[in-house]
Amino acid sequence: ITRTLCSSAVRNAAIKHVTVIGGGLMGSGIAQVAAVTGHSVVLVDTSEDILKNSAKNIQGSLKRVVKKKFADKPEAGEEFVQKVMNNISTSTDAASVVQKTDLVVEAIVENLKVKQALFSTLDKVAPAHTIFVSNTSSLPIADIASSTARLDRFGGLHFFNPVPMMKLVEVIKAAGTSQQTFDALLDFTKALGKHPVSSHLIQHCFSLRTLQASLLSGFMNEVCHGSKEDIDVAMKLGAGYPMGPFELLDYVGLDTSKFIIDGWYEKEPENPLFAPSPLLNKLVAEGKLGKKTGEGFYKYK
Ligand code: CAA
Ligand code: NAD
Repeated sequence: ITRTLCSSAVRNAAIKHVTVIGGGLMGSGIAQVAAVTGHSVVLVDTSEDILKNSAKNIQGSLKRVVKKKFADKPEAGEEFVQKVMNNISTSTDAASVVQKTDLVVEAIVENLKVKQALFSTLDKVAPAHTIFVSNTSSLPIADIASSTARLDRFGGLHFFNPVPMMKLVEVIKAAGTSQQTFDALLDFTKALGKHPVSSHLIQHCFSLRTLQASLLSGFMNEVCHGSKEDIDVAMKLGAGYPMGPFELLDYVGLDTSKFIIDGWYEKEPENPLFAPSPLLNKLVAEGKLGKKTGEGFYKYK
């Protein structure tokens, strides 16, 4: 926690009020870091039950953070958690809450048509100055932005999971994104205490994502020949990875991983690294989506 709530940096910034759409793994994390750094946040999802769960997850994550930062001052830690939670409100009606927002961060399902439908609706009701961004892992920002009439105020912010821990954010400048928007997104990323890297030259193949998708799908196809446990242990103990590739797939979510890999396969069907994985498809069909559902490649308590 390097920044104080409602810091002067946020008071003077172009982006003070943030609407995060999607209260899953990524949206909850993005809402959390924005609230911790003094932004006023509205978190949107499709039902009150999902939003209750999002709030519970944010609180759980904040408690992990304050356990260390306020180790000798537990009361101050509790007060901090409460203050952060006070910066977050929730809604199931995106169209009504975007009317007061400076930035909309979309973190819903990795599906182009669903994202376009959302942005097309919001474009008609959001104020002219509002910037739209997608946290997409694999879809070209320009394709999502094409559903709106604000190409100059549309970009990408690609956060990494878990958002409260991962410092990197890819800031994506699509062909239509204005320099003013791009600069505001860089400033916002820094205000969150994150490290931005600019991906405007490689917007169709964010370097990290491509590497990850290749690596992950390559490993996944290996599972027919070796054990996932051995591959995970080898990568952790032999290559210094914090998580093995199968653990990471479970952590990212197998549904999201499948969307990403299927998208790459559609674009490059001849590339063996993106070939469909029968095992991944089977797990997703069974609703075993990884850590978030309690089972994926591994089982979780
Ligand atoms: N919120 C707050 N704190 C957290 C946290 C969270 N969600 N997750 C971990 N922490 C902190 C806590 O302080 C925790 O200590 P406590 O258990 O005492 O609370 C500490 O980190 C260590 O955590 P763990 O003991 O659970 O495990 P770890 O040492 O392996 O660290 C990790 C966890 C940081 C997630 C680490 O395993 C890691 O870096 N894994 C790789 C993550 C990665 O590669 N992410 C990118 C995914 S790909 C992507 O995001 C892009 C895409 O488009 C798909
Ligand atoms: P998730 O499945 O955990 O959460 C998605 C949430 O969006 C769900 O709560 C769902 O109810 C909600 N939602 C779906 N449609 C909606 C709509 N029309 N309006 C409001 N809410 C809606 O997914 P996630 O892992 O948080 O991924 C979200 C986005 O972030 C995807 O585009 C994904 O590619 C990207 N991303 C994911 C990761 C990761 O590691 N999981 C990392 C970086 C980027």
